[in-house]
Formats: sequence, structure tokens, C-alpha cells
Amino acid sequence: MTPLSNLPPDMNPIETLDSVIAAAPDEVASAATLDDLGKLDAVLLGKDSRVGEVRRSMGGLDEEMKPRVGAKLNEAVQRIGGLLASRRAELEAVEEGRRLGEELIDVTLETVRFPSGSLHLVQQTIDEVVDIFTGLGYLVVGGPEAELAYYNFDALNTPATHPSRWEQDTMYLDWGAPEDEVLLRTHTSPVQARWMEDHEPPVYVVVPGRCYRKDTIDATHLPVFYQIEGLAVDEDIRFSDLKGTLLHFAREFFGPQSEVRLRPDFFPFTEPSAELDVSCFNCDGGVPGCRVCGGKGWLELLGCGMVDPFVLETAGYDPTKVSGFAFGMGPERVAMARHGIDSLRHFIDNDIRFLRQFR
Ligand code: PHE
Repeated sequence: MTPLSNLPPDMNPIETLDSVIAAAPDEVASAATLDDLGKLDAVLLGKDSRVGEVRRSMGGLDEEMKPRVGAKLNEAVQRIGGLLASRRAELEAVEEGRRLGEELIDVTLETVRFPSGSLHLVQQTIDEVVDIFTGLGYLVVGGPEAELAYYNFDALNTPATHPSRWEQDTMYLDWGAPEDEVLLRTHTSPVQARWMEDHEPPVYVVVPGRCYRKDTIDATHLPVFYQIEGLAVDEDIRFSDLKGTLLHFAREFFGPQSEVRLRPDFFPFTEPSAELDVSCFNCDGGVPGCRVCGGKGWLELLGCGMVDPFVLETAGYDPTKVSGFAFGMGPERVAMARHGIDSLRHFIDNDIRFLRQFR
């Protein structure tokens, strides 16, 4: 760049600016980077540029020259500014293209897949059932799996001679008098007795948990399985409350079209006792050979009944003041009913093809 001082002394400002304007396109085009361009901006239009010099000399010009030089100055700034701006846009596009090229990710490439697990169907079922009851205000409580024979049987009105107490059916950890006998609980019902012993009515609890029986594995038996116990004790609880509560459960779990029916049954700790069936959600009442109910129209769901006064009394409640109902369901069984699963074995086989269907 030729400094102003090196210009021929006779060159007037208009000619100076014309020569700067004429040279600008080549100079701007030669800037290869945004950095170069930034420097060129100062060289062409900055304080020490020829344009800057002319601007500074304006004050000394005569009145006739002033507007002409002023107009030329504007033209120079405008045209050079325009050239710089479009070159800047070009260089930015080049820069952007280079960056995109560097950062390019080939989305067609096979990636590493991280296997993600999910809750087991039995756990999902427990969560869903428990949710329905917490929605009604029930508390979720627990109790020990290694249980005293007293809570598993005696407090539940199950006499020492009852066949379920035989070693053939129950896994004992320690024998002795009922108060000292320790076993793996055969149902979640002992938590009824434990909870009532420690809490005053009203009681509304559900108890999900693992249970154990000396059964050989087959399509309908597992030696380790789950139950969800329900217990409601309050003033004036009636059999119709039991039926209404379980109907609500059935409609939430199996769908709003569900109906329930109760058949007489026997449990030592409820009186009267019943077995609850739910109408088949698949055929809605007995299509021969239905894959879910086998054409019966009903699915057996759970055992239930009104809490026996003996159980209330043993727990320290007054059976003339409070009454209650209880039920015990197997989450495996209700999951089988809902999904048309034909064998309990699927729950423990750990076959990923089975488990994946219930994510
Ligand atoms: N505990 C019973 C069983 O294991 C089920 C049940 C619970 C029945 C509560 C009535 C009331 O079969």
C-alpha cells in the first residue's frame, strides 16, 4: 500500500480516492481469510489509510472542493465497504463449510446399542395393583418373610392341626412351640395380624410380598411366589364394601366392562369367605374355546372374606365395634389372567423373548 506521503504531490484528493477505489476490488479479492480481511479493512478505510488521510484534510480544502471531495469520500467508503462485506460473506461461507466437513457425523454408521432392561411383569403387576389401592387411600405396608408360626397361623385362627401347617406344605426354619416356631410365610395374611396388633382402627392397608410353599414347579405352582394382601377394618364395614372395592379393582385392572362374582369358599381367618371371579375381558362371557378363560366366561382371581371376629379380638380390637374385610391375590395369577399366559413357569424361566413382550 502506497502511503499518502509517497503519492505525487500534485495528485488531488479526488484522484487519490479514485485510485483507491480502482485498486480495491483486487485487494479485497486477495484476502484469503477472515483474519486478512479484518486487517485489510483497517488498511483501506482506517485512520491511517488514504481515505482517512483525505478525511482529515477536509478542513483545509476550499469551499468549492469540499462538497466534491465529501461526495467522493462517501462513494469510496460505500464501495469499499460493500466489497469488504461481500468478501466477508464469502469467507464465512467457506469457513462454515470447512467446519461442517470437520464435524460431520455419519448417521448411517452402525452404533453400539446399549441394552436397556425393564421391570419384570410380576413387579409391573404389583405396582399397578398397589396403585389402584393407594388411589383409594390404602397404605402400602410390609412384614417379614421369615415369620413366626404364631402370626402365619395361630393369630389367623388356624389350629395346630390344620393341614397347611404340616411340614409337607410349609417350609420351617425352626420347630418348637408356636411362639418360637419360625417358617417362611405361606401367605401375606400374617401382616394383617401384625399391623392390627400395632395400630388402632381404621385400617386400610395393602401388603405386597413374597411367599413360600413346598410346591413342585409346574404350570400353576411355584415354591416362591407373590401375594398382595388387602385389609380394611373400620366401623360398619360390610360384605357389600368388600364386593364394591373388588369390583372397582377389577374394572381398573381389566377394563370398565368387567363384572365380578363371589363364590363361597373357606379360610380360617375370614367368615364368610369367598373366591372372587372376574368376567373374561377377552370373550366377555363365554365364547367356546376362548384362549383366556377356556370358554368358562370367568377368571378365578383371589380369595377374600370378612375378617373373622377371632382375628380382630386376637389383635386387640373389639369385634362388636369394628368389622372388616380382607383379600389376598396372586399378582402372577392376575397377570396370567390379563395377558393370557398359560404357565407360571414363564415368570421364572428368564427367557428374554417372554420378558420383552411386557416392557
Ligand atoms: N391368605 C389366603 C391364601 O393364601 C388368601 C386370603 C387372604 C383369603 C385374605 C382371605 C382373606 O390363600
